[in-house]
Amino acid sequence: MADGGSYRLRRYGLYQLSASIGQLSHIPGASFYQSNKTNPLNGGEHRHFAPLVAGTVNNPFLRELIRFDFAQLTSKQHIEDNWLVGVHQIRIIATLGVSGNPTPEGIHRDDETYTAQHLIDRHNVGGGVNYFYGSGAEPARRPDAVWKQESYFDSYYFDRSLWHSVSPITSGNREGDGHRDVLLIDFVESSGVN
Ligand SMILES: [Fe+2]
Repeated sequence: MADGGSYRLRRYGLYQLSASIGQLSHIPGASFYQSNKTNPLNGGEHRHFAPLVAGTVNNPFLRELIRFDFAQLTSKQHIEDNWLVGVHQIRIIATLGVSGNPTPEGIHRDDETYTAQHLIDRHNVGGGVNYFYGSGAEPARRPDAVWKQESYFDSYYFDRSLWHSVSPITSGNREGDGHRDVLLIDFVESSGVN
């Protein structure tokens, strides 16, 4: 992390989705880019994360989940057929006395058109509360929704207009390190991308 922390582990994969026929093609070796504006902390460069392992790339549940999430986020009126789908496996770690920060950039919006966020695991951590601040030109002064994901596959869906943040996680006892794992699946129209 550009803030000197090493509390975040992640893997990343990119797919092309042909919406009309539901076909997913994995794009090997893709890097991940965010602008400086979107991510002042770590943006402005192509970031190469560890790839999804082969068993994940071809996992039938993941592929069905991508199609399911896409269906929740779009309507039949959507004429775009080609989409780029980013899959992020993110683990934030907290050790005793050292918190881990899921959104070190603070209250922010994502670049991607649509995003689905699924909680995979919380182990031995406090915090990790989601805050949502509306879709105005600026974030609302107070969050208009607050939610802590507790259970496997607690999920939320949003688009690029939504301001959001997640509070740091802490490991408050002596059972050792804690972690919060999420699966992010994001979707961007790729018209013009062949
Ligand atoms: Fe975000």
